[in-house]
Amino acid sequence: MLPVKQALNRAGVKRLDKVSAPDNSSNVTKHLPDDIPVALRDSPSVAPATVDRSMLVAGLTTLGAIALAAVILVAVQLQRSQQAQSNSAAIAANSAQSPTPPNPTTSPTAASVNADIMLGHFRYPEAPLAELTPIASDGSLKLRKSAAKAYQEMQSAAQQEGVSLVPLSGFRTLTDQDYLFFGKKAERGQVAAERAKVSAPPGYSEHHTGYALDIGDGAVPATNLSPDFENTPAYKWLKANAPFHSFELSFPKNNKQGVSYEPWHWRFVGDRASLETFYKARGKK
Ligand code: DAL
Ligand code: ZN
Repeated sequence: MLPVKQALNRAGVKRLDKVSAPDNSSNVTKHLPDDIPVALRDSPSVAPATVDRSMLVAGLTTLGAIALAAVILVAVQLQRSQQAQSNSAAIAANSAQSPTPPNPTTSPTAASVNADIMLGHFRYPEAPLAELTPIASDGSLKLRKSAAKAYQEMQSAAQQEGVSLVPLSGFRTLTDQDYLFFGKKAERGQVAAERAKVSAPPGYSEHHTGYALDIGDGAVPATNLSPDFENTPAYKWLKANAPFHSFELSFPKNNKQGVSYEPWHWRFVGDRASLETFYKARGKK
């Protein structure tokens, strides 16, 4: 069998009879069993290997394409998911920033009002007239009821110690403050920043709140609304005693607001409403 196979591999079936079989034994040759399948006889010996490699390359290419498609699909889904989350967050944020529209007839809260500042002064609403009560016998000066009560108690306490506290200015309307800022500014030829060091622009004075007042010394009226007031018995008494009555100096020396030193200007911070008026949201500035 071996010579026959070698001959087949080299030259194919048709040369077998001429090479391997003796001329006189053609009958024997014709009956040799043909153990090589017909389909493989004319194929080159390297053909199977070539087919396998091609199939491998094709398979790998297909797998690579499928993997790439899967990666792209996952990436697209991930991006869509992140986009959806981002949209949800944006909607939530917008909802949080869009509360019920404010009622224009409602007074603004101390927090929202104090968020505004101009030329060193915070914005304040005018106190409601119904909240005000006189602090002087002629009724010309008024404060909020809580502040008025505390002031009158403080004045009585000072008087008992021989000190004369005199109220010089209390609640002021926007119109009052408009004159004090723009009227005086024009009379004196001051620029806005210069005027603002001694007077708040209208809408920005603590006097609008009904919690603040200017105090003089009845025994030394020449020092009214002057830095020299700090040398009076009234100021010295206030410095030592005002906190016991819930009053504090609004514009001490070198205050953060950049307003001139005003030893005569005091504000009441003895209840929640007054404290919120002056301090809530102020820390943000
Ligand atoms: N003099 C103070 C700053 C006012 O005008 O309110
Ligand atoms: Zn004042």
